[in-house]
Amino acid sequence: MSIYIPEKDWFHPPEGAERAWIGISLIWCIIMFIMMPYWHFKGKQNSTGEAYRVTPQAFVERVDKFVESYKVGEENGIPIVEPPPGNDIYLLGKMWQWYPILKLKKGQEYRLHISSADIQHGFSLLPVNMNFQIMPGYDHVLTITPTISGEHQIICNEFCGIGHHLMTGKIIVE
Ligand code: CUA
Repeated sequence: MSIYIPEKDWFHPPEGAERAWIGISLIWCIIMFIMMPYWHFKGKQNSTGEAYRVTPQAFVERVDKFVESYKVGEENGIPIVEPPPGNDIYLLGKMWQWYPILKLKKGQEYRLHISSADIQHGFSLLPVNMNFQIMPGYDHVLTITPTISGEHQIICNEFCGIGHHLMTGKIIVE
């Protein structure tokens, strides 16, 4: 709050640099407005929109069964799972880890089912900057084809409590 009363004619139409900046911002707003629907249809990281209702408990059971069937090792107590290509694969977000570690083959397609056991998490795959909201109660299916081999870190990008910053996971591509 100012201690001075503004002069009566305080409004001056923008001019010079101010006008240019408003113009640039406006043009950028319009470009982004057009790009949103464009990316929806032409983007390479879009969800297929395929999702099913599932209780968190039922999803956890599916994940456990998946881990049991294709477990090949363990790292820091988290199972490493190597499913055959072309299959349905599962990833569970829970406070505060991504479960299990997936080992996938480069160039092969998988149907990744992803959900949460408790609250909302954010799946963020590095370094490809692929981001997806993970909601309990929904089985989101993402069709993925790994194109870069190596170890890819998953982090949680949705604040989910005191262990949020520890919530990391891994996808290994060979
Ligand atoms: Cu899970 Cu933040």
